[in-house]
Formats: sequence, structure tokens, C-alpha cells
Amino acid sequence: MKPGVRVPELAIIAPTFNEAKNIAALVQQIDQALTGVDWELIVVDDASPDGTAKVARDIGQRDPRVRCILRLGRRGLAGACIEGFLSSSAPVLAVIDADLQHDARVLGTMLQHIRAGDTDIAIASRYAEGGSPEGLASASRQRASQASTIMARLATGVRVSDPMSGFFMIRRDAFEPLAPNLAVEGFKILLDILASARGSLRIKEVTYTFAARNEGTSKFDLKNILDFVGLLVSKMSGGRIPLRFASFGLIGLSGVVVHLAALKGLMASGIGFTAAQTAATVIAMTSNFLTNNVLTYRDRRMHGWRMVTGLLIFCVICSVGALSNIGVASWLYGQSNIWWVAGLAGSAVSAVWNYAVSSRLLWRK
Ligand code: GDD
Ligand code: MN
Repeated sequence: MKPGVRVPELAIIAPTFNEAKNIAALVQQIDQALTGVDWELIVVDDASPDGTAKVARDIGQRDPRVRCILRLGRRGLAGACIEGFLSSSAPVLAVIDADLQHDARVLGTMLQHIRAGDTDIAIASRYAEGGSPEGLASASRQRASQASTIMARLATGVRVSDPMSGFFMIRRDAFEPLAPNLAVEGFKILLDILASARGSLRIKEVTYTFAARNEGTSKFDLKNILDFVGLLVSKMSGGRIPLRFASFGLIGLSGVVVHLAALKGLMASGIGFTAAQTAATVIAMTSNFLTNNVLTYRDRRMHGWRMVTGLLIFCVICSVGALSNIGVASWLYGQSNIWWVAGLAGSAVSAVWNYAVSSRLLWRK
């Protein structure tokens, strides 16, 4: 090897958001777990307010195996992992959470499998025999994890015990061809990799116990659930339906519930139907706008005045969508006389319109 040139065998990606207090311990655990292995740790930080990136860079000044990618104006676990992977020339890539919930010693076992040459991806599984998900914060989070695992298997045909694991190792030559098809939104990059590979990867599962979080808090929230459903829908459609559209559509459905609740409430307070229906429409559009702003488009979220003008533009876009909905539905009803086909087709047209135009005009990159 040329002097000064160092290509480590293994690049470990740690995506971070507010993990400043965990980085030093993470580096230490990896160092202990991988004696004799040539590794690098790439912390991919989304400009955490707690200064995680600075902590990682300070460590990197003393220990050149540690480096940091600081991403400005972006959020997302999957995207951070992809970016970290693509930044490295190491032949073997791994992801580990920075909060010490993943047992770093498992990295060594996974690396042995990859080195043996019969494995493209090694997955640390909480659910394979001998493993345990005990670190999941609550009983409801455990149930949700199990239910989503079943859903993921059904929707994507992926047959591993823990497709939602955030802890795995993959050969770079297996990862790179899949990278262009992966969704950068969302939490579940492993599931995306497995679904996109369509059974072409040689998989090994390694068991481990998912520990309790060290410092800080989990970033798992409603947005991650929506992204998960979006990922399933997107994969089931062979990538034709974008993940964000599924999220937008689900929020649209929630808007129907808001609309009906508002209509009922307003009519109960004595307002006439037409006025109540008009107000309920505005309330539902506002609720859709605000929910999309914090969930579907969290990474492009509007604030302050921009949000107020954004809401007005959103209402105009949705009104045009409603007109085309009515137009298409009436025409189809005239053709077929099947009311629900006409109704559904009209709604689909307006959903696609609202999504396409608002993501291009309002929440654009
Ligand atoms: N860069 C970046 N951007 N990192 C993020 C983001 C983000 O938007 N959100 C979370 N992270 C980082 C966290 O800082 C942490 O290091 C790691 O991703 C996991 O996030 P947690 O918030 O701790 O998630 P969790 O513990 O609830 O779930 C994790 O473990 C499960 C079991 O392996 C995730 O990895 C799940 O995907 C996984 O199923
Ligand atoms: Mn965690």
C-alpha cells in the first residue's frame, strides 16, 4: 500500500441525531470489539442541536479512524445511512445505532460471516433464536415492532426474522447496485435493501440482545410509522408509488375524518348545512396542510409567514383538485352508472393532483 493511504476493511456508519453523550462510549466499544480489524467509523449527523458533530470531530482529531459527515438542512435515518455508505471505499459496510442499544461485539461475528465469502449481508436480529428485543422502550413498542415485522414480511416477501433491524453489515459490491432504488425518507433501510434485492442476497442472521438506550431519547415517532407504511406501499407497487405519496394519501384519509367530525360538531351548534360544510372543508384542508407539513414534509417544513401563505396556496390547489374530482367522477358516473367506481376514481384524481402540485410548488426541495 502507498504510504499515507489507508483503505479500511470495514466502514461502520453511525447515524446520529442528538447523541453527543454517546459518541465517546460508542467509539470505545467498537475499538474493544474489533481488535485487529482495520475499521473506520463514520458518524453521519443531521446538524444535531446538541453538538454531536463537534464531539465526533474532536474525537476524530485524536483518532483518525473516526470521521463525521455533517448534513445541513436534512433529516432522516435511512438517507443518513445511505450517504455514509456511499462516502466510503471500504469493501465492507455496517450500520450501528449510536445510542449503544446495538451490541458492538456482534460486529465481529458479522464480519466473520462476510469474510467467509458465503454471505452478502449479515443481520443482527432481535428475534432470531437466542436474541431479545428487551431494550424496546415499552410493551406497546414491542407489540408494534412484532406487528410491523409481520406486515413487512407479508408485503415484501422478505423472509428474515428481523427485517426491521437497524444493525447489519453488507458487502459494498452488493449494496451499490441497490442504492439508486432506496428511499432516503424513513427509518427502515434494511427492509428497503432486502425488498429491493428481491431475494438475490445471501443472508446470515446473528442474534443479539437489544439493550436499553444509554443517553438521550429515541427519535421514533408518528412520522416513522407513516414512512413505514409508505415504504410498504411503495415496494408493493414495484417502486411506482413514491413513499411520500402514500404518506400524503393517508393524511388525506385522516382529513375525511376531521371533516366529518367538524361537520357534525358545527351542525350540532345550530349552523346550517351549507355553512357548516364550507367551514368543515376549510378545517379539514388546514388540518391536512399542518399534518403534511410536520410529517410528510418534515425535512422541508415551512415556518412562520411562509406557512401562512403556504396554507392559502394549499387551499387553492385542493380546490382545483376538488373540481377535477367532481368533473371526473360525474363523467364516469354518466358512462358506467356505478357510483363507487366514479367516486373512487374522482378521489384518486384529486389526490394525485394535490400531491403532485403541492410537492412541486409548496414543499419543493
Ligand atoms: N442522521 C440521523 N438523522 N440520524 C438519526 C435520525 C435522523 O433523522 N433519526 C434517528 N437517528 C439516529 C439516532 O441518533 C440513533 O443513533 C439511531 O439513528 C437510531 O435512532 P433511535 O431514535 O435510537 O431509534 P430506535 O432505538 O427507536 O430504533 C432503532 O433500533 C431498531 C432496532 O434495531 C432503529 O435503528 C430502528 O430502525 C431499529 O428497528
Ligand atoms: Mn435507539
